[in-house]
Amino acid sequence: MGNLTFGIVKPDAVRAGHTGNIIQRINEAGFKLRAMKTLHMSQRGAEGFYAVHRERPFFAGLTEFMSSAPCVVMVLEKEGAVKAWRDLMGATDPAKADEGTLRKDFGGSLGENAVHGSDSDENAAIEIAYFFSQLELV
Ligand code: CMP
Repeated sequence: MGNLTFGIVKPDAVRAGHTGNIIQRINEAGFKLRAMKTLHMSQRGAEGFYAVHRERPFFAGLTEFMSSAPCVVMVLEKEGAVKAWRDLMGATDPAKADEGTLRKDFGGSLGENAVHGSDSDENAAIEIAYFFSQLELV
């Protein structure tokens, strides 16, 4: 079980001004922020990031949305980080997310669900390396 995971505050949440609240909730949940930056992904950048979903029917909409406006990408540290971050985010569909989760509080729909998190230690390493160099991790 690794202690790092990768997260994104997605364009819907950044646009709505929720970034500060989400960072506060991350801090309160005991994560250490090892790296963080705001960036505006290109369509190709989003397609590379979500390459595993290339064959899915929602791929075009997903990558268009993720490149529609700036997002905040981050590296989070905590024991069992992947699960801990997924627990804090809640279910992918905000309508099914538990009370007290970020997607319940800030997500609008299945596609625009406020935050992203890695689904495994292996993917966390891949996703961290997609956005951050070793030098950027404090
Ligand atoms: P995320 O954790 O960023 O990983 C892939 C994203 O695809 C997911 O969150 C959803 O926001 C988005 N998505 C859009 N439509 C669907 C769908 N029908 N099923 C699953 N994920 C979807």
